[in-house]
Amino acid sequence: MTVFILCRFTDRLILFMISLARHSFKSAFNSKLAVSTSFAWSKTALDQWLLIRLTFVCCSVVFGAALFVVFYAETLNVALVGTVVSSALNLTSELRFAVRFTTDMESKLNGFVRLEEYARDLPREKAYEKESDRALVNRGWVKEGRVEMRGLKMRYREDLDLVLKGVDVVIEGGEKCGVVGRTGSGKSSLMMALFRIVEASEGRILVDGEDISTVGLDLLRRR
Ligand SMILES: Nc1ncnc2c1ncn2[C@@H]1O[C@H](COP(=O)(O)OP(=O)(O)OP(=O)(O)O)[C@@H](O)[C@H]1O
Ligand SMILES: [Mg+2]
Repeated sequence: MTVFILCRFTDRLILFMISLARHSFKSAFNSKLAVSTSFAWSKTALDQWLLIRLTFVCCSVVFGAALFVVFYAETLNVALVGTVVSSALNLTSELRFAVRFTTDMESKLNGFVRLEEYARDLPREKAYEKESDRALVNRGWVKEGRVEMRGLKMRYREDLDLVLKGVDVVIEGGEKCGVVGRTGSGKSSLMMALFRIVEASEGRILVDGEDISTVGLDLLRRR
């Protein structure tokens, strides 16, 4: 009997929880629907705005064609008159289709414009491979992994302040080293400079005695 009552109670409790959750889901759904509808509404309104103007243009053309036909009725061929008037009437839908097709195509091709921008206009990194890399590989660079930073200064862009302001540090090969500091103190920037994701403004980083600014980026980042 107790189990039966307990089951009934939990059933009711679950139903109650569901009815509570239903309201919160419903209001979340409604607010998202309202946002989506507001965009759809704007699009429909713009469509109508365009349609009114296009229809006006087309009516003017039909009116012109009709006037032309009336004035030259006696000299014109009947078939030609029919063609002119029906073509003018068809213009409304054709013009609307053409405008919509062009704007649709323009917005869909935006992705290509963005790609072209990335391919042509983004500043490039320094050389990925260099002549001198082969000699380094033959020498088995990096052997020890001794990292030496000498007066290292770095900024993210020309017009920004220095983020690393003259770092002098030597980390011996095989040594474990931790970098600590408050947020924004430049811990990640140190790694950016080490892998030349951002080039140093001044100073040098030497890895096993080799200035990394003279090494090809591919070799540097792989080793
Ligand atoms: N891409 C960037 N462009 C411009 N400034 C940047 C960029 N990344 C970081 N900074 C600036 O460089 C400074 C150092 O940031 P960095 O990310 O190196 O700090 P952090 O010590 O790694 O901080 P956290 O502990 O939060 O990771 C900060 O003042 C930050 O605002
Ligand atoms: Mg960081």
